[in-house]
Amino acid sequence: MKYQVGVIAGDGIGPEVVAEAQKVLNCVADKFGHEFGYEDILMGGCSIDATGEPLTDHAIEQALHSDAVLMGSIGGNTSTSPWYKLPPEKRPEAGLLKLRKSLNLFANLRPAYLYEELKEACPLRDDIIGTGFDMMIMRELTGGLYFGARKTSEVDGVVTAVDTLTYTENEIRRIAIKGFDIAMKRRKKVTSVDKANVLDSSRLWRKIVEEVAKDYPEVTYEHMLVDNCAMQLVKDPKQFDVILTENMFGDILSDEASMVTGSIGMLSSASLNDTKFGLYEPSGGSAPDIAGQGIANPIATILSAAMMLRYSFDLDKEADAVENAVKQVLKDGYRTIDIMPQEEDKKSAVEQVGTSQMGDLICERI
Ligand code: NAD
Ligand code: IPM
Ligand code: MN
Repeated sequence: MKYQVGVIAGDGIGPEVVAEAQKVLNCVADKFGHEFGYEDILMGGCSIDATGEPLTDHAIEQALHSDAVLMGSIGGNTSTSPWYKLPPEKRPEAGLLKLRKSLNLFANLRPAYLYEELKEACPLRDDIIGTGFDMMIMRELTGGLYFGARKTSEVDGVVTAVDTLTYTENEIRRIAIKGFDIAMKRRKKVTSVDKANVLDSSRLWRKIVEEVAKDYPEVTYEHMLVDNCAMQLVKDPKQFDVILTENMFGDILSDEASMVTGSIGMLSSASLNDTKFGLYEPSGGSAPDIAGQGIANPIATILSAAMMLRYSFDLDKEADAVENAVKQVLKDGYRTIDIMPQEEDKKSAVEQVGTSQMGDLICERI
């Protein structure tokens, strides 16, 4: 069967890591007898340079006509890149937000899993790591502060900036259902994270989560305030199974969770709606500090491609093969620079490799 994949290479390390994910998909195609067709889609800084817009209507059409979209990352150095002199709606990130909203991709799954072999890249102490951890962050992706009204105005020489955090009960309900559904396939625990001691939107969040929880008697659930959650993620990450949270909290907590797995370069993601379509992208950014050096970790993007195989194409066997190949490459001692052991004396036990070599090594193990 032929699957049509839209490819947003994007900016910075985006094209470098996407090339490795495509290498892996081609390898899956050869091994399992599938065909993947690719269509390049412009988004982000590269689209601004080519068209003046971070995402054109044509690009949205291309995404809509694909079975799924694989993406690298977009954006540049937000202090120095000329893209950040443009009005906010013309900047690279506006393209990504518009794409998420246009395709109604309200459910963002970010799995944070500590590979046994990466214990030495994890900044936490051995007694905290214990037998490792495995959590799924279910981040709401099309509401909250990201999409509420915002405005900067000036009155009598005083500038005021306003952002608004809005959620409707239906937006909360549909993401809560996704969170509980995925918990049923895992260890059946949901931690719903909010700031209900301050925010109305969080109080509504709690109320709706409690209503949804009634339909899932087998799932244990708890509420946790977001500041406490940030602390618990480094104190005892093992306690989490599914973290269900709103857009901005999920953005911040997922970067934090990624670091306890060793690196943001390991954290994959799937952005889904209620159809089979999905946008698959690493959770990290375009890493302008290391772009063009061939040293970025492609694993988050490769694991995102595995999520695409699983969630959009129902190719579970193929997804397992990619995930197992990643495990094996780590077991065999290959590391990109970001997941090298922290202690000097442990470095000689592994071999540091670049982006493209990591892609090749994973393909060899599929
Ligand atoms: P970043 O995630 O790009 O980088 C943070 C740090 O993590 C850097 O030191 C970087 O080198 C490292 N890192 C990230 N991915 C890595 C990988 N695969 N391998 C090895 N190291 C990796 O965050 P930032 O520097 O705050 O943002 C840079 C740009 O990326 C900004 O323009 C931001 O808006 C954009 N961004 C885009 C996305 C996306 O496209 N989904 C996500 C996050 C940030
Ligand atoms: C992410 C990114 C984006 C977000 C940015 C680039 C808009 O940080 O995917 O985590 O905040 O959602
Ligand atoms: Mn982020």
